[in-house]
Amino acid sequence: MSDALLSLTGVHTHIGDYHILQGVDLEVPRGGITVLLGRNGAGKTTTLRTIMGLWRASAGELRFDGRSLRGLDTPAIAQAGIAYVPESMAVFGQLTVRENLVLAARAGAIDSARLDWIFSFFPALKTFWHAQAGNLSGGQKQMVAIARAIIEPRALLLVDEPTKGLSPAIVLKLLEAFRQLKEQTTILLVEQNFNFVRQLGDTVAVMDDGRIVHRGTMAALAADRALQEQLLGLALDAHQ
Ligand SMILES: Nc1ncnc2c1ncn2[C@@H]1O[C@H](COP(=O)(O)OP(=O)(O)OP(=O)(O)O)[C@@H](O)[C@H]1O
Ligand SMILES: [Mg+2]
Repeated sequence: MSDALLSLTGVHTHIGDYHILQGVDLEVPRGGITVLLGRNGAGKTTTLRTIMGLWRASAGELRFDGRSLRGLDTPAIAQAGIAYVPESMAVFGQLTVRENLVLAARAGAIDSARLDWIFSFFPALKTFWHAQAGNLSGGQKQMVAIARAIIEPRALLLVDEPTKGLSPAIVLKLLEAFRQLKEQTTILLVEQNFNFVRQLGDTVAVMDDGRIVHRGTMAALAADRALQEQLLGLALDAHQ
């Protein structure tokens, strides 16, 4: 028996007539950051959406913390302990930062110790606590979206391309924040920015055409330039 926190075995997902995930085998060990890499259209977002029950797997098994996720709807999967930050930085633009977080908290009340912990790595949220979220910068909106996902303790956090479109200075802030976050929560991080994740990741999986084509440690991939080129090709060059 594997002691992975999350495991996908032979997972297939169809979207309409398209067969997108074609037998995904992915394990997320407990603790640290598992990075999911792959070119545009490889199936990374579809994998996260299938884990959350936003797409239904047509075959295969998904197990989280010892139980099957098959047949559970999205609220039940969130309730089981999985949080999801989609690519689109879901924040309520008309509401303040505070209101965004209150809405994400169970029973509408924020635990103050947890909020202080979030402020410790996202100090901008404290500064802009009463500002309308829609007026924040892209990086700050990303911080609100991540804070919403972690305002309640969750065993696993799924994050889809958090650095997309952000300036290098904000990416550095996110890097520091993820370093602190991974001490508390297991994270499955989808990214195309290899220079960001090579400093963060513990385990890595690479997708292509709806399948996992490589898995190993980030340390091994980060040290092997030829393997990076073979697996990541042009996607890597774009970030160097
Ligand atoms: N709603 C949809 N309807 C039809 N096809 C879709 C839909 N969503 C995704 N796809 C297709 O599924 C494939 C995988 O898409 P997915 O969004 O999972 O890729 P990705 O790895 O996240 O790519 P990116 O790096 O560009 O975000 C692509 O070929 C895409 O066109
Ligand atoms: Mg995607």
